[in-house]
Amino acid sequence: MNYQASPDRYKNMIYRRTGKSGLLLPAISLGLWHNFGGVDVFENGRSILAAAFDAGITHFDLANNYGPPPGSAEENFGKVLDLDFRAYRDEMIISTKAGYGMWNGPYGEWGSRKYLISSLDQSLKRMRLEYVDIFYSHRPDPNTPMEETMMALDQVVRQGKALYVGVSNYSAKQTADAAEILEKLGTPCLIHQPKYSMFERWVEDGLLNVIQKKGIGCIAFSPLAQGLLTDRYLKGVPEGSRASKAVFLSEKQITPVYLDKIKKLNSIASERGQNLAQMALSWILKDERITSVLIGASSVKQLADNLDSLRNLEFAKEELSKIEKILAPDA
Ligand SMILES: NC(=O)c1ccc[n+]([C@@H]2O[C@H](COP(=O)([O-])OP(=O)(O)OC[C@H]3O[C@@H](n4cnc5c(N)ncnc54)[C@H](OP(=O)(O)O)[C@@H]3O)[C@@H](O)[C@H]2O)c1
Repeated sequence: MNYQASPDRYKNMIYRRTGKSGLLLPAISLGLWHNFGGVDVFENGRSILAAAFDAGITHFDLANNYGPPPGSAEENFGKVLDLDFRAYRDEMIISTKAGYGMWNGPYGEWGSRKYLISSLDQSLKRMRLEYVDIFYSHRPDPNTPMEETMMALDQVVRQGKALYVGVSNYSAKQTADAAEILEKLGTPCLIHQPKYSMFERWVEDGLLNVIQKKGIGCIAFSPLAQGLLTDRYLKGVPEGSRASKAVFLSEKQITPVYLDKIKKLNSIASERGQNLAQMALSWILKDERITSVLIGASSVKQLADNLDSLRNLEFAKEELSKIEKILAPDA
């Protein structure tokens, strides 16, 4: 069936400026790390992508290694582009990354120019694209000069293979260094992609200040702590859930301490007229330095649920202090 995007797709989404750049991103973006690989049901992924675009989600985030198997999420995304989205390419911001292990030998991971440029060429083929909108260094490489990694990012922009570049998983200091080098090269660092959720708050200890000072945007990944910050695990570990697969999230991580916090957070969410997933997303978006929350979803229903977080981004002081108490390590 031919996909026709909803004419109302821009009615309810909020768009935020990415740092000091000209680029607006949706407050909620969709990542294809899980649920879009070769092992997943293609039509399910396809309908999640269509529902996302229909709701104003213009940004789709990938990486060379997403799958499994690695590369298959990009291949599936390329298929959906051809089937449904080709006419809408200019309405989309598509990102990919390189940094983690992708192929054998010394040139298949980290941050050398050799790896980054070969990897982007492969990603473009898999996604059937001429260019990506954002290309990331997926992680800092302690053994490659930062200049080399940044020069590779600058080069792909000059070659027209990427419009913007960003970094992911870089510390505050590494981000400041990377931004300085990129600035000198004439290709500003558009965005940082760190892990950030109620349960993972390292960005608050310096990174958010650096990105604000440098005019860099911030897109928070795993904002639902891979599903922990939802009602998914309140009554055990459902079959098919991420924790049941025990690769990136395992049952062992759902400790009684976490469960207790999740239950308490859930009741604050109810008082706000939200569910826990919605509150967890609103809680991140309350900070204006955050451009977007980068969610995952295994169904259209989860996606729709998460989109409703945008209806209530305000927090009363008392709500915030109750939340802080629950999140405190000794609570
Ligand atoms: N740069 C990096 O190093 C890096 C690392 C990780 C991720 N990322 C990016 O961030 C994206 C999101 O990461 P993530 O998938 O970990 O994000 P997340 O939003 O924290 O977790 C998504 C998972 O939470 C569950 N979920 C989502 N909405 C729900 C709802 N309303 N109710 C109940 N459960 C719900 C689903 O789990 P079930 O599958 O169990 O249904 C879903 O797969 C990735 O796709 C990727 O693009 C980047």
